[in-house]
Amino acid sequence: MTPVLSAVRAVANDDRVGLFDLQRQRARLESDLKARIDAVLAHGQFILGPEVEMLEKRLAAYTGAAHVMGVSSGRDALMIALMAIGVKAGDAVFVPAFTFAATAGAVVSIGASPVFVDVDPMTYNMDPADLELAIAEVEAEGRLKPAVVMPVDLYGLPADYVAIGKIAAKRGMTVLADAAQSMGGAAGNARVGALAPISATSFYPTKPLGCYGDGGAILTEREDLAERVRMIRSHGRQGTGDAAMVLGLTGRLDTIQAAVLLVKLDVFEVELDRRRVIAARYNHGLRDVVGVPVMPDGLRSAFAIYTIRVPHRDRVRVLLDEAGIGTGLFYRLALHEHPAFRHFDGRRLAVSERLTGEVLALPMHPDLSDEEVDRVIAAVRAAMAKV
Ligand SMILES: Cc1ncc(COP(=O)(O)O)c(C=O)c1O
Repeated sequence: MTPVLSAVRAVANDDRVGLFDLQRQRARLESDLKARIDAVLAHGQFILGPEVEMLEKRLAAYTGAAHVMGVSSGRDALMIALMAIGVKAGDAVFVPAFTFAATAGAVVSIGASPVFVDVDPMTYNMDPADLELAIAEVEAEGRLKPAVVMPVDLYGLPADYVAIGKIAAKRGMTVLADAAQSMGGAAGNARVGALAPISATSFYPTKPLGCYGDGGAILTEREDLAERVRMIRSHGRQGTGDAAMVLGLTGRLDTIQAAVLLVKLDVFEVELDRRRVIAARYNHGLRDVVGVPVMPDGLRSAFAIYTIRVPHRDRVRVLLDEAGIGTGLFYRLALHEHPAFRHFDGRRLAVSERLTGEVLALPMHPDLSDEEVDRVIAAVRAAMAKV
């Protein structure tokens, strides 16, 4: 079992504070979850049933995106969005080097080439200045065509879409937001899903809005892209037609997952508020001993993950484990350090490389009590005194 899976499955254990805990939320929502799932079992429309459409409409209203399409996972959301945009072999897709492997995987699986961009040392999101450099390098080399910029809203904090949007617009490039971690985040009055022309999110169980399996969604303001996404997620077929109009895949969100998400959407804002209160409590209790997340003015993080930055990270992690505190490493490898993506390397990615050795995720979920947060803070402070 991988560490991530064991964290997902962690059942509340009174002595340990888990990195994630889905069981407390399940207990809180149990009767509504059962009623929604039972309704799906009774009507039997397991693929693209009424709950999927209901969820898509509610997410459109919540985010401000004109069109929302439920799909099979966050990675599939990225891949389908790239296919809908028309990205192909010979195209360059600019992605931050410090993110989950799926960001690059989606690009490579449609035959395009990821170009790794370094991240900002404060927000850990794509650095617009390095994006400019990377595009100039690709243009000078002349081998690939700059096509798409794919920023990631790391840990839930929206990327700098204003600066990145300007850079992309100058060259006619499309911005596709990898918003897998940031549903519920916002910039000013605009929510994630409406910060870029097209966004992809994930409903993986531990995400702020998570289902009980794999799931994701694509959100867009563009009717043409929405139409193509609907075809691609369903074998390339248009509506009820049987002809494959474009190359498609089995990429739909299933109805039972949509039913689970409808229940969780009812309490989503309350849970997000709790995540932010926990993050503020951590920041207050830890800012003098470790690097804590920045909370830039005007940006609202969904706090999918709460990450500190520490020297001697692996030693601190062992000490926290001994103190009964679950932690996670997001991410131990930058994209160009994964064997699958090494051959796309070639740029200087100093900030990303440094972060991989220093980041440490602390327990974060809406059912953490203040006492548990304080236990984590005390344990981190004690560990820092020892290293
Ligand atoms: C930044 C990022 N992109 C893409 C994905 C892929 O999402 P999924 O696991 O739903 O395929 C994830 C999630 O795990 C992620 O964190």
